[in-house]
Amino acid sequence: MCGIVGIVSKDNSNVVCDIINGLEKLEYRGYDSAGLAVIDSTGLRRLRAVGKLENLVNKLKINPIYGTIGIGHTRWATHGKATEENAHPMVTKDVALVHNGIIENYKELKADLSQKGYEFTSQTDSEVVAVYLQMELDNGLRPREAFRKMLQAVRGTYAFLAIFKAQPDIIFCARNKSPIAVGFGKYMSIGSDVGSISANCSEIVYMDDGDYAEVTKDGAKFFDNGFSTIDKPRVAVTDDLVNLGKGEYSHYMIKEIMEQPSAIRKTLLGNEVPKEFFDKISRILILACGTSYHAGLVGKYWFEKYLKLPTHVEIASEYRYRSPVIEDNTLVLVITQSGETIDTLEAMEYVRKNNNTCCLAAISNVLNSAISRSADFVFHTEAGVEVGVASTKAFTAQLTVLAKLAFCKNPELLNQLQNLPMACESSLLLKEDIDKLSCRIKDCANAIYLGRDNLYPIALEGALKLKEVSYIHAEGFAAGEMKHGPIALIDDVVPVICLCPSGSMFDKMFSNIQVAQARGKNIIVFTDSMGGKSFDESVEKIVLPSINQELCPILYSIPLQLLAYTVTVLKGEDVDKPRNLAKSVTVE
Ligand code: F6R
Repeated sequence: MCGIVGIVSKDNSNVVCDIINGLEKLEYRGYDSAGLAVIDSTGLRRLRAVGKLENLVNKLKINPIYGTIGIGHTRWATHGKATEENAHPMVTKDVALVHNGIIENYKELKADLSQKGYEFTSQTDSEVVAVYLQMELDNGLRPREAFRKMLQAVRGTYAFLAIFKAQPDIIFCARNKSPIAVGFGKYMSIGSDVGSISANCSEIVYMDDGDYAEVTKDGAKFFDNGFSTIDKPRVAVTDDLVNLGKGEYSHYMIKEIMEQPSAIRKTLLGNEVPKEFFDKISRILILACGTSYHAGLVGKYWFEKYLKLPTHVEIASEYRYRSPVIEDNTLVLVITQSGETIDTLEAMEYVRKNNNTCCLAAISNVLNSAISRSADFVFHTEAGVEVGVASTKAFTAQLTVLAKLAFCKNPELLNQLQNLPMACESSLLLKEDIDKLSCRIKDCANAIYLGRDNLYPIALEGALKLKEVSYIHAEGFAAGEMKHGPIALIDDVVPVICLCPSGSMFDKMFSNIQVAQARGKNIIVFTDSMGGKSFDESVEKIVLPSINQELCPILYSIPLQLLAYTVTVLKGEDVDKPRNLAKSVTVE
């Protein structure tokens, strides 16, 4: 949440365009406001705008600024509303600062600074850090000492970039729990992710918690939290780290939905499960958030059925606050697209502190992310960079890894998994049918998703996808639970979206649909050709390819993603950047 970029030119060229390009790649982290600051011959110059980056670009056209060193920020508001005053960079007389994270002791610091006569223009926690730096400069410290002193004074999570009028050739940076990578290439660059700095760099250094760095046109010096110099390994920038743009598509979300057959194929190729992986394991605990949590719920059905291992799935943000008991020899599996979600990271830390017999494994889409680096073992979803805020291809890739793990002792099912990419390709051909279906849904205020067994989590995920991008209130239910309350919601208008492939649950699901049909008129059924024979014209039918019923969670996710996408586009909402959301959730 919040993206930061810094650039130091090596040949005195203007860095403003490159900062904007970097921020464009980081908009998925927040789009409440954007801003940048540079140093030119007159001193610090700053420009900020509320809303998406294009507003800042438009302002720049009218009021261009230039500089050979600069920092930029795209904001997801935590402290203070999305206003220009609260937009970063935070600037004082002599320093400009951008921040991603939360300063926990900002109130104490602010009170102290106010008492000393310093004034504030924003409601943010971040401004306190800029003002603190200013105070240390006023006390006579040089930028380096001021920055180091500030790091000792603040408590919380941060990725900071700061530039000082008095030392216009250095960007000072520091990290605690919020990501920063430093890029070496045509210019020196710093960013919240590799995609934001990769355009012109060949190698990167990932900063770790407690690291602090000074970046100049000649390179970067890294220091540990005791300020001793450290060597950091440089990693080559490879294609899978780079956001390649939208290509022929109008939105990232549809591009990423369409990429699923290839993401699943690549994920199937890797991720071999070591032979002895489950040998000492007596139970599984899955920790994740949002869509990744839904993947974990599907995993539970598979692990218990095929590995006979008791499996619990927990929302990571709740887990560590209820003093959970962790039994010995538990495989703790965290699932994450970004590899950065703070709730999941903190839940891992809780496990580490409370039971050292556990194996901590991660299913992650971002190698070198904080979560991947803290796990004992990483399964990598080969979905490639996912930019659309709503997770699509990363979700089905997570399910693919879970299936490989759960079926590792079942050659028949492992074999069946190979059919999945082709079935997914066929399901993408349903887009036209789903376009038509979207007209029935776009003006509804509510929608209900129903599934049973391993498709119950997909009902939850389908509902999450629809609500987060289209703003239609949607709920997923286990179809058998309807009669215990939610059935009261059914009327002639509300769409009831039912997942009903042929297989062992078909009859039960079919009767649940009959019950819904007796009370409502907008019943939509996702089924296969065999199942489809049981439904007449009174329901709207979408017929998917037939596949082994264990694999249906992966296949049936795809048309539900398409539905969320097409409804949102019809409504004219911004499908890649839904309101209030950010892709990487680095605040609790
Ligand atoms: C919804 C979505 C979120 C994420 C959640 C966890 O489409 O993407 O619900 O799944 O914020 O994020 P990761 O998987 O990055 O840990």
